[in-house]
Amino acid sequence: MYKIVAKRQLNQQIVLMEVEAPYIAAKAQAGQFIIFRVDEKGERIPLTIADCDKQKGTVTIIFQTIGASTMRLAQLEEGDSILDFVGPLGVATHFEDNVKKVAVVGGGVGCAIAYPQAKSLFNKGVSVDVIAGFRSKDIVILEDEMKKVSDRLFVTTDDGTYGTKGFVTDVLKKLIEEGEKYDAVVAIGPVPMMKFVCEVTKPYGIKTIVSLNPIMVDGTGMCGGCRVTVGGQLKYACVDGPDFDGHQVDFDELMKRNGSYKEQEKDHVCRLTGGVR
Ligand SMILES: Cc1cc2nc3c(=O)[nH]c(=O)nc-3n(C[C@H](O)[C@H](O)[C@H](O)COP(=O)(O)OP(=O)(O)OC[C@H]3O[C@@H](n4cnc5c(N)ncnc54)[C@H](O)[C@@H]3O)c2cc1C
Ligand code: FES
Repeated sequence: MYKIVAKRQLNQQIVLMEVEAPYIAAKAQAGQFIIFRVDEKGERIPLTIADCDKQKGTVTIIFQTIGASTMRLAQLEEGDSILDFVGPLGVATHFEDNVKKVAVVGGGVGCAIAYPQAKSLFNKGVSVDVIAGFRSKDIVILEDEMKKVSDRLFVTTDDGTYGTKGFVTDVLKKLIEEGEKYDAVVAIGPVPMMKFVCEVTKPYGIKTIVSLNPIMVDGTGMCGGCRVTVGGQLKYACVDGPDFDGHQVDFDELMKRNGSYKEQEKDHVCRLTGGVR
């Protein structure tokens, strides 16, 4: 069992939990994830390792309460335990030594995944610009944390209630057009956002790493659920990724596969919310 040692509500939908998992904390690197099961009847759900404290032996996860499993996890409190918490899974993000300046772009809860990337790069002495986008002011998360691990933080909101009005891609495009020379861009968020970031960077030949979020089941390369096409080749995001060269990813196929169960989900009445979602 894995004890929850701290819990914080970051906004109405997003929860941060620090979980006692010393073996995972000892090995985890930016870009890796865990798979949890709340209890013996729970689904296997992947979440990125947002942070870890090797001394305390804890792993931080940040998740959006979107469906049954994340709602059940969010119902647990400090002192409660999670049945299974497996990791670190996936390949850690790798940057060449000559990478000196990076733009880290996060969208919504994707900022939870972008944050450890920015932190890891910043701590290695890389110059980091973070561009974090949200729908509106009330759902902005991790602003202080991202400020501490970046040279500059740009916040955008779709409705203009905070930061710059518009999308992360608008800010990224402007910075590049103004002459910023990024050695790489990291983009993490909704699939369409990652696709558009890649469209902005491609004409400039800027290497762009994306963190893919296909449906995962076992997380060990055996079920095939997370298969994606990258550079015309079949890859399994759980063992070959989740990070990939964004210019090589077939985003349209990923969006189609992620929507595979939309028809079944449409008629599902959630007993946890009385059918609200
Ligand atoms: C490598 C990886 C890292 C992730 N990291 C984070 C994170 O740090 N924070 C966060 O909020 N979310 C993260 N996600 C997404 C998260 O796994 C889903 O939101 C979660 O599975 C939803 O489950 P649910 O039962 O609460 O909702 P459901 O209602 O079952 O699903 C809601 C949506 O979540 C997606 N989803 C459902 N089951 C899975 C599954 N087994 N694998 C992948 N996606 C699924 C589908 O798109 C689905 O439409 C990550 C996904 C992957 C693949
Ligand atoms: S989750 Fe089963 S192969 Fe990747």
